[in-house]
Formats: sequence, structure tokens, C-alpha cells
Amino acid sequence: MKQILVIGSGAREHVIGETLKRSQQDVKLFYFGNSKNPGLVKLCEKYEIGKLDDFENIKKFALENKIDFAVCGPEAPLAAGITDYLLEAGIRVVGPNKKLAQLESSKSFTRDLLDKNNIKGNPLYKNFFDNNGLKEYIGSFKGNYVIKADGLKGGKGVKVSGDHLFSDEEGYKYALECLRDEGKVVVEEKLIGQEFSLMSFCDGTTVIDMPAVQDHKRAYDKDKGPNTGGMGSYSDANHLLPFLTSKDIDEAHHISESVANAIKTELGEYYKGILYGGFIATKNGVSLIEYNARFGDPEAMNVLPLLETDFVLVCEAILDGNLDKINVNFRNKAMVCKYAVPRGYPDNPIRGTKISLDKIPAEAGLYFASVDEKEDGLYLGGSRAIAIVAEGDNIFEAEDKCEDAIKLIEGPVFHRSDIGTESMINEKVRMMEKLRS
Ligand code: AMP
Ligand code: GLY
Repeated sequence: MKQILVIGSGAREHVIGETLKRSQQDVKLFYFGNSKNPGLVKLCEKYEIGKLDDFENIKKFALENKIDFAVCGPEAPLAAGITDYLLEAGIRVVGPNKKLAQLESSKSFTRDLLDKNNIKGNPLYKNFFDNNGLKEYIGSFKGNYVIKADGLKGGKGVKVSGDHLFSDEEGYKYALECLRDEGKVVVEEKLIGQEFSLMSFCDGTTVIDMPAVQDHKRAYDKDKGPNTGGMGSYSDANHLLPFLTSKDIDEAHHISESVANAIKTELGEYYKGILYGGFIATKNGVSLIEYNARFGDPEAMNVLPLLETDFVLVCEAILDGNLDKINVNFRNKAMVCKYAVPRGYPDNPIRGTKISLDKIPAEAGLYFASVDEKEDGLYLGGSRAIAIVAEGDNIFEAEDKCEDAIKLIEGPVFHRSDIGTESMINEKVRMMEKLRS
């Protein structure tokens, strides 16, 4: 029997828990999170609600329940060192320790790591610690630049010219703000192309990719509106994306493998966890946008339901450094995941209003995120509420099914109806063809 702890309580952690429970082994699941997730609660023997920065409490809960190992969903506990903390109590965590989690928590660390180790994939970039030469460097990109605050900002620290910043002067002002707040800022070249997520299992040496996924950060259809945690994502039956070639995936894989080796050399420790590269296919090949040290949300919902290999074995292989000894397989299905979010999300979301899932067929893939379950039903929590996932032989079939189900959620919610549709995908394919020609 295995007693496994999931840290976190969103839809990503719901699917992590479900995938662990599908194991051939007898798994007793536990979770520690900051909310009551109705789906996780059903899968777990026991759960505890608490703050994710309360490491003492997480450790206490883990020890009380004789946890064999933990899987950490969100980035903040990893960046703050939950892996180091639990290891001191003899509990291993699938997820890098604090030093290694810099791969996500420090943009400058990651850019420098690639640079120093001659790993191809960085755009032109420079880290600034004061404003010496800052204005001139921004100017050198002729209006195509990106300014990145150097820390975990929940996706809000990155500002892109043309999207958020409309002159060099505005860029300079934001860079000064970052310098004032963090003492550091990264300025880089703006890359043009199609972004994709390639998440990999990593034991520090071996890197095994999951199917590629494309997430959609903007709140509204046609990529309009404010940035969100991710409104939905699709992946294809062949584990590529319609605008990617297998050479693109090979390039991304090569970057991740080189990064796993380089970080071991640099920091002297093995990266054990999920290595999630945010890549962009450009006319000059694949470049790296950023690394995350965890599963993507929603991307986890695209890939984990397809995992054929026992996830408990995969986690143990990551921890033991044996990933090269197992075969990791994913089913060949297309997946579309869409989030239903409260009206007004992300800036002024309605909260505390009731929703109903009664009309959703039992066979639909449904994962709970920011909802409160009360005696008389489910209430909106104010962030992404419910993820619906559907599979198909191709993306359009999966999209149709996903749309049919998500429309049945009753209450003041909305979702993006364009994610995974034929017209959207054709547009992306045409864009890449044009760039590459
Ligand atoms: P990050 O937090 O680094 O993933 O950045 C958030 C978003 O900013 C990414 O998903 C991209 O859309 C955009 N972005 C970041 N860096 C670049 C870049 N060098 N060129 C173009 N877009 C970028
Ligand atoms: N899908 C975006 C993220 O998980 O950061």
C-alpha cells in the first residue's frame, strides 16, 4: 500500500489525484490545500485545509498520515522550499527543491543557465541591476521587446511591447518599477510565432516528454482581453500540435534535456519533478519563453488522463532516478480542456453565486477548481471554477464534446468557445506556414 500526499487543491491537483488513484497499486490518497475540492475529497482518505506556506502544518499532516511521498501541484511551495522541508522529515516530494526551482522562480537564472552552457533557445536578453544602459538596450529592439520582473508573479510580471507596453518610454518606466521592487529586471527580444507547452518527467538525467499542449491565456475569444491563469488548452492524438513538426518537438526536448544536465552541473543536485517548458516555434526554430517547475494548469488535464503507465511508478522512478528503466506511454487521443470562469473574471469576478452541474453527463471529464461546496450546492469562488475535458480521435471531435458539456453548466459563468475549433487552428497553421516560408 502507498500513502501519497497531493499538495494543492485546484483542478490540476484533482487530475493529479485521480491519476495516482488509477494506479495498479493500492493507493491511499491525502491532500493538503487551501480549499475544499469536492472531487479530491472523494478520492482522499483525509484532507486538511490550510495555507500552502504553512510548511510546519503540511509536515505535521504528512507525518501523521505516514506519507510515502508527496506530489506538489503549484509553484509557490516549490519556490519557497517545501521539498527541502519535507525531506528533512524523510518525505520525498515529486518537485524540485528550492535551489532547483529557481528554474521557474527566477527568469534571469534560467536565461543565464542556457547562456553559460551554450544551450540554444534564448532570445537576445540582458539582466539589469540598475538603469545603466537600460534605456538604450530597450531602444535597440526597435519596439519589439519584453520586460520581465524577476520573480514569481502569477503571470503578471511579464509585459510585452505591443500587448501591454506601447512605447519604449512605457517599457523603460515598467523596467524601472521592476528594478525598484526586485533590484533586478530582464529585458529581452520579442519572439514571434506560436507558443506551446512541453511538459516532461525528469529524474535529473532522463527527460521523458508528455504530449505537447497549447494553452490560451487571454480571457476572451480570439485571444482578446486580459491575461488569465489559462482559459483552456488542446492537444492532438499524435502528441504533436497541428502547427508543429516533430523536429520542433525534438528541438524543445533537446533544450530540456540540456537544461536538466546543466542545472545538475551548476547546482550539484538532480532536478526531480516536472520540467515544463513554455516554448515558441519561430521562423528560426524553437525558442524558450520560460520554464515552470510543475504541471501546467490546464495542461495537466490534457495529458494525465491519457497516461497509460502507472503514475505511481512514474513518480517513484523520478524520485529514485530510474526513469530510464520504465516505458512511459500516453494514449493517442486528442484532448480539449476548457475552463468555466465567473462572469467578470479575471478583473472583477462574481463570487459566492450558485452554479449547478446537474445537467452535465456523468461521463464528461470534470475537474473542480475555485468553487465552494455548501450543503445546498456549489458556489463560485472567484477564480477559474470548473474544467471540462473531452477526448476525441481529432481535436475538432474533442472540441465538440467539450463544448456540448461545458454549455450545460448553469450559473453566471463564461468560457472560451473558440479554443480547439477548426477556424482557430487553421489560423495558427497558416500563421506558422507564413512565418516559415
Ligand atoms: P512567461 O511568464 O515568461 O511565460 O511570460 C508570459 C507570456 O509573455 C508568455 O506566455 C508569452 O506570451 C509572453 N512572452 C514572454 N517572453 C516572451 C518573448 N521573449 N517574446 C514574446 N513573448 C514573450
Ligand atoms: N498554463 C499556464 C501555467 O500553468 O502556468
